[in-house]
Amino acid sequence: MHDDENDPRSGSRRRVLKLLALAPLAGCVADAEPTDDDDDEVPSGPPPLVGEVSVGRVDELQPMTLQAIPGERVAIGRDDGGLWALSLLCGHLGCTIGEGEGAGGVSFNGIRCGCHGSEYGRDGDLQHGPSTQPLRNLAVRVEGSGEIIVDRDEDVALGSRTPLVS
Ligand code: FES
Repeated sequence: MHDDENDPRSGSRRRVLKLLALAPLAGCVADAEPTDDDDDEVPSGPPPLVGEVSVGRVDELQPMTLQAIPGERVAIGRDDGGLWALSLLCGHLGCTIGEGEGAGGVSFNGIRCGCHGSEYGRDGDLQHGPSTQPLRNLAVRVEGSGEIIVDRDEDVALGSRTPLVS
């Protein structure tokens, strides 16, 4: 059988081949843009990073830690300089780091995306590709009650800290 441009069956064959070629990326693409058709395959989760989210209280966040907030696609860290927050959407193809099977990990020592192995430092700085960009650093504030709020719509400079007032 040959691939004839005028044969309507060959167009269908090309589409199938394209879909097969894209299959290894399906997890990342589906994670970024879920559709009604793949409800069975894509873990449900919140919509992409938008708005403010409460990530706990200052008195519950241990010093010298960085932890993922389940379901929120952000991580919150605390060190001697204060608090910082990161988006956990990988800069490569948008996998959510730290969620789902083979999701990689988030710790004070660094961050690893489980999809293709990109690695970031605790500030979201890129250490190893295939990603070519750091993780977004997000604005953080502490309410009078001690509640920590991360604004997923506001980027801050890499390595920024929100000082803790004692
Ligand atoms: S999506 Fe490819 S390394 Fe994270």
